Amino acid sequence: MTTIALLPGDGIGSEILDGPLTYLRRLKSDGAPVTLTGPWPYGTTGWMETGSALPPVTVDACRRADVVLSGAVGAHPGVTARQCPTPEAALIELRHIFDLRISVRTVWTPADDGEDVVIVRNVTGGAYAGPDRRRESDGTRAAEDLIVLEPHRVREVFTIAAEYAAERPGRRTISVDKASVFATSRLWRRTAHESAHAFDDVNVDRAAYELVRHPELPGVIVTEGIFGDILSDIVCARAGSPALCGSATVNPDRRFGNGVTALFEPAHGTAPHRTGTRRSNPTGAWLALAALLDWCPDLQPLGLAPRVRTALERAVADGPPTYDLAPEGTTAVSDMDQFNKRVLEGLE
Ligand code: IPM
Ligand code: MN
Repeated sequence: MTTIALLPGDGIGSEILDGPLTYLRRLKSDGAPVTLTGPWPYGTTGWMETGSALPPVTVDACRRADVVLSGAVGAHPGVTARQCPTPEAALIELRHIFDLRISVRTVWTPADDGEDVVIVRNVTGGAYAGPDRRRESDGTRAAEDLIVLEPHRVREVFTIAAEYAAERPGRRTISVDKASVFATSRLWRRTAHESAHAFDDVNVDRAAYELVRHPELPGVIVTEGIFGDILSDIVCARAGSPALCGSATVNPDRRFGNGVTALFEPAHGTAPHRTGTRRSNPTGAWLALAALLDWCPDLQPLGLAPRVRTALERAVADGPPTYDLAPEGTTAVSDMDQFNKRVLEGLE
């Protein structure tokens, strides 16, 4: 039995999960081994309800679950950044508590060749270290963010990236760093050269340029946390919308039965100005669900993830697009309910 804790988060986070949740509930009533718990509050919503961006009740729920399905965390309508300054810290804290140390993002590029681009990065350690590696400034003293990379942790990122590379034969695979400047990047590059799969070394500034300008996108990008954060948004821009990316943050030890092993979410933000309009594009949430269905040992054998991806492709190809992908001047535009209906019909 797989227990999924639902953490919708803020802004459009809740509505964006409607389609995937309808499907999960349908699977459950058809007898799939899945239990849903929540919704549990976190981010700005957690702060509004309990005074904490990561309430203990939510952490407890995650200890009793196998995976998290999240919407988005960040700004929420009606709450100023002054009132709740860093709701994203809840996500970073969750990653640290459950050692969800590797991020795997899949960006789907229907506007290009339709092939996906996978970005693998560390999201604990490196630039994403915990508070013990940071010193805040009072405005007079220096602020500090210490970047430390352990060799075995870098190797682990490469091991996972090599698995994705093997699934994409013939496509370019790149390892991105800034070895001319950072010691951590020189370790990164040395590890790249020892990897079982041969990745091309690309400096991060050049990588940004190529991702915007080169006709062909790489199949896999493996890079340090902060570089991957930035480059994954560039790949989304290239794909046509931030909504075309599903994000998984995983603990590669995969020890089920000890609290959450992975968190799945669309990679876009909370879009507070769009909240409640039901006009957002739920593709990222569907991609996140597909990755979840692939990750869980009780669900993977049911072969549902490829079915979700196929239904998604068909929904995009068959109907009017959502506003973000609609050519300028187009009037026939889907809202998320029409779009979800097409995906769900494809899954019947
Ligand atoms: C993302 C976000 C997060 C990250 C933040 C919210 C910590 O930007 O998922 O891309 O930097 O990983
Ligand atoms: Mn980001």
